[in-house]
Amino acid sequence: MKPTHKLLFALCTILVLAFIYYSSGKLHQLVWGQKPQSVAEATAVVLTKGAEVRKIPELEPDIPGGRLVGSVYDKQGFLLQLDTKLPPELIYKYGNLSEGMCKPGYAAAKMTVIYPKFKKSAPMFLDRNFKLLAKASKYLPPFGIRTQERIIDSILTATKNYGLGKALDSLTCKRCIIVGNGGILFNKSLGSRIDDYDVVVRLNEAPVNGYSKDVGTKTTMRITYPEGAIQRLEKYEKDSLFVLSAFKPLDFKWLRQMVFKEKLRGTEGFWKSVAQYVPRKQTEIRILNPYFIKEASFQFIGLPFNNGLMGKGNIPTLGTVAITMALHNCDEVAVAGFGYNLNMPNTPLHYYEGVKMSAIKESWTHNIAEEKKFLRKLVKANVITDLTNGI
Ligand SMILES: *[C@@H]1O[C@H](CO)[C@@H](O)[C@H](O)[C@H]1NC(C)=O
Ligand SMILES: *[C@@H]1O[C@H](CO)[C@@H](O)[C@H](O)[C@H]1NC(C)=O
Repeated sequence: MKPTHKLLFALCTILVLAFIYYSSGKLHQLVWGQKPQSVAEATAVVLTKGAEVRKIPELEPDIPGGRLVGSVYDKQGFLLQLDTKLPPELIYKYGNLSEGMCKPGYAAAKMTVIYPKFKKSAPMFLDRNFKLLAKASKYLPPFGIRTQERIIDSILTATKNYGLGKALDSLTCKRCIIVGNGGILFNKSLGSRIDDYDVVVRLNEAPVNGYSKDVGTKTTMRITYPEGAIQRLEKYEKDSLFVLSAFKPLDFKWLRQMVFKEKLRGTEGFWKSVAQYVPRKQTEIRILNPYFIKEASFQFIGLPFNNGLMGKGNIPTLGTVAITMALHNCDEVAVAGFGYNLNMPNTPLHYYEGVKMSAIKESWTHNIAEEKKFLRKLVKANVITDLTNGI
């Protein structure tokens, strides 16, 4: 080796050693440091100065209080700054509409501002092309329809209808409200405001008869699963679509029996008693697109993926599934009767029965706290309007 080469070699070695020494000090800080700021700084240093030390994004979720300084999105992909305005052309477009008029595409536009990954297109209900829904076909229930294709085929052949009906499907701007079952609806006289929406969505057995002053009289659809469906026939409203949100394979089998008015043989596999008969014509029955369960759980709330299988705490509540459906299919979205206030144990849990808030149990399937964080983002950013301010 020539002397100049030797010198260069020595110099390089010193530089490399110095760098390693420097970064290990920073890394030490990275592991033990308590302040997120120092982590962000150290990460930036590592990123710019050393190609061989790759970025350390895995650390992000473990830092108390959250996120890297400078990042504008949380780990779900929502903007941290939720009071962000619409793009100017939309402000102009909507600003021109007279007060109270339905704003076309408003909910999706707002959602896209705070959550750029949002893709609007996802049909409400399964139709004859359901096998082409790549998003849903890959997963087992409740996140998809895999293994249930034949049974769904036979149901859809009989129901022959896959939309909301002519009048609603042809509206150029649809305003939807999801009516939750919360006690917060009680004695608020919101009935007529709820009835003003084009599409009124109700969940499970939440009654209308006898509560119309508070919850309205209109029901466009009732989304339910077998254990949640109304059992006493006189409790059904006159006309509404009966929409199954399936959580397990058995739910599709149950729906087929309801569609073909077959006698239900045995109820093992259900976690409580189920309706034996649904007083609806075949043409009034729908299957909710399971994509909304998957998207709500894994994308929006960030519940455990569990290889795409149902597991502890990864099933969103039906209310959140319904809101997710509305974000994709309605121009404006409102909710009422959402939110449990656990600090008020003596207030009613539901608007229609005496059960108190304190009766709410730790749930194996749901994660109410994480779900609430997601719903709060929607309310805060004005993606949805909360008529009862419970979220
Ligand atoms: C908004 O209203 C103004 C005046 O009323 C009109 O000139 C303009 O074309 C409207 N813009 C849109 C996007 O409708
Ligand atoms: C319902 O609200 C009205 C006033 O808005 C009040 O007078 C009445 O006592 C309330 N009823 C119950 C049962 O809380």
